[in-house]
Amino acid sequence: MEIAMTTTETLKSKPDDADLGFGTIFTDYMFNMDYDPDKGWYAPRIEPYEAIKMDPATMFLHYGQGVFEGLKAYRTKSGRIQLFRPQENLKRLNRSSRRLCIPEVDEAFVLDAMKQLITTEKDWVPDAPQTSLYIRPTIIAMDPYLGVRASHTYRFFIIFSPVGAYYPEGFNPIKILVTSDYVRAVRGGIGEAKTPANYAASLLAGEDAHGAGYTQVLWLDGVEQKYLEEVGSMNIFFVIDDEIVTPELNGSILPGITRMSVIELAKHWNEKVSEKKISIDELIRAHASGSLKEVFGAGTAAVISPVGQIKYGDQVITINDNQTGPVAKKYYKAITDIQYGQAEDPMGWIVEVI
Ligand code: COI
Repeated sequence: MEIAMTTTETLKSKPDDADLGFGTIFTDYMFNMDYDPDKGWYAPRIEPYEAIKMDPATMFLHYGQGVFEGLKAYRTKSGRIQLFRPQENLKRLNRSSRRLCIPEVDEAFVLDAMKQLITTEKDWVPDAPQTSLYIRPTIIAMDPYLGVRASHTYRFFIIFSPVGAYYPEGFNPIKILVTSDYVRAVRGGIGEAKTPANYAASLLAGEDAHGAGYTQVLWLDGVEQKYLEEVGSMNIFFVIDDEIVTPELNGSILPGITRMSVIELAKHWNEKVSEKKISIDELIRAHASGSLKEVFGAGTAAVISPVGQIKYGDQVITINDNQTGPVAKKYYKAITDIQYGQAEDPMGWIVEVI
């Protein structure tokens, strides 16, 4: 399929790289394509960023049938622009779509469209340290219909946002709150799909956490409320003695690409790493015995984020004296060095754009 291009003369002024937060600024162009059952995906086009006009009965608005992805384009020191494992995001997009009854996209075609949009928007890729161009591919159900069923028509779009750190703390340890009042997902539900409802389900717990002075919620499993699962915007890792441990994927945890990269790097370095069930009680015992050395999160937006404090009920545990530990530092450096082209890419993770 040929990608049509509509240009505009009215370009936005670009922000100062030093002031970038997360997800507030959008670039000049977007990619769009539509789906209907007769044509399949059709009319792929790059056009000026603009509002999507919707019938108030649009199914996405009522029943949340939609999926999205998050990945980043990085500018290297030499000015090249590159992506980190975009094929993994597109595979996951299609897995999420299958769960939400959304037609799959051609991953190679979408990667190509993404690269073309990045090339169009290359001047928006920031170059200050720790900044990048966040990429948000999204699919939404477009039928104007109030009955509950899968939509017949869809819109796929990709938008870009130049970003800095996701957390105001930057790479300093964050505080997280384990909630027993709410659950995010249950096995057999939609927890492992990247779909808006999972984020909607997290909001009230997130507000409670903020009110109590915590940055994020650490979710327990939705069945026994005993096993650790993930943080709202990232997966979670524990360093217990000399082993890196992360909750095993059980159907309700989002299979993060940074999570996968930490595990693969650990294996590549012959470090002890395991994906297993770990309960909040085990974590608290590991802390009491001195074997819990570090906790950190991993996500595209969050990169590697050290956790300095965890609250569960009345218990508050402080990890590694609320300092960023050596394991978090090592993985942060290894992954960001590959992303920004500052180190060799022994894993074959980088896709060059221009
Ligand atoms: C990401 O890490 O890309 C995410 O999608 C997390 C969050 C910003 C929704």
